[in-house]
Amino acid sequence: MRVLVTGGVGYIGSVAVERLLLQNHDVVVLDNVWRGHPEAVAPGVPLVVADLRDRDQVARVVREARPDAILHFAAATLVGESMTSPADYFAINTVGSHNLLEEARANDVERVVFSSTASVYGMPDRQPVAEGADLRPINPYGRSKLMVEQMLEWYGTAYGLRYACLRYFNVAGATRDRGEDHDPETHIIPVALLTLLGKRDRFTVFGTDYPTPDGTAIRDYVHVVDLADAHLLALANLDQPGEHSHAFNLGTKDGFSVKQIVDAVERVTGRALPIEYGPRRAGDPPVLVADSTRARAELGWDPALSNLDQMIGSAWDWFQRHPNGYGDDERRR
Ligand SMILES: NC(=O)c1ccc[n+]([C@@H]2O[C@H](COP(=O)([O-])OP(=O)(O)OC[C@H]3O[C@@H](n4cnc5c(N)ncnc54)[C@H](O)[C@@H]3O)[C@@H](O)[C@H]2O)c1
Repeated sequence: MRVLVTGGVGYIGSVAVERLLLQNHDVVVLDNVWRGHPEAVAPGVPLVVADLRDRDQVARVVREARPDAILHFAAATLVGESMTSPADYFAINTVGSHNLLEEARANDVERVVFSSTASVYGMPDRQPVAEGADLRPINPYGRSKLMVEQMLEWYGTAYGLRYACLRYFNVAGATRDRGEDHDPETHIIPVALLTLLGKRDRFTVFGTDYPTPDGTAIRDYVHVVDLADAHLLALANLDQPGEHSHAFNLGTKDGFSVKQIVDAVERVTGRALPIEYGPRRAGDPPVLVADSTRARAELGWDPALSNLDQMIGSAWDWFQRHPNGYGDDERRR
């Protein structure tokens, strides 16, 4: 299949490209390299630099790539930034996705797999969170993603688009050649590892008085390879006859506490993490874990690599080989 991957030089998109190539798909990447890294794109894969907000640029890429399917990862992804710059989030995530969907429609692209997020649920009433939970985002990031899910629903109904929305909770880990290099980095495992590498002074544990067994917040983490593979399964599922579900949670249900992650980081790396303790952050629920029964049952998804040792170990290998990320520059993180 010929697959257009938006955001294919970003963390998850670049790993998805790697996994698509292993299944012999023909891949083209669209990215404006705002936050990704051109070095992350697999050798031989064309990278077309284009901005989703520019309809003409998107039109040119889709027309020339003539994809059978689109994996749509490109987005602005920081919850905090979305609170202070909501306009950018609606422009990139919502309007950008609309441009992409319109060009998919104009060029008869029938399949789209969309990177959605647990942020569409907001503060869920029950854990683990199933797909039927209320969709009540509490920040512009989650809202901008939910709006795309809602657009997809109507493109499916009215134009026959086949689509899947994969709702990620937390993603971690690396492959041999591709890992996490966000700027700024906000994710817990890379932040802990960058602290061990001396790129940050201390690792802050936000909140030690949550109603959880060890008092720290619990989140659900999936290895980036398991996550990428869910996209390939979702893509294949779109070609199955009959009715399909459209939203799938990706998680392991059990989750890990911040304390468990700190312990695992120290165990896997053999180094002591300099820690400080801070107050809870506003808007952080005590527990956020996914019920992914649907992805397992309907897609045959099995997140076999999503244990702490594999996620932290693979990320640590990658960081040791790339202590400055993809670039050679000593950027601030
Ligand atoms: N990393 C996570 O834990 C996580 C969790 C939930 C959902 N997600 C979603 O997964 C997707 C990928 O996340 P990631 O961590 O790989 O992010 P990332 O920032 O590493 O990658 C995003 C890519 O999108 C590109 N991009 C941004 N704006 C663009 C635009 N206007 N035009 C073209 N390209 C643009 C960036 O340059 C970057 O390469 C995102 O949609 C994100 O919302 C990620």
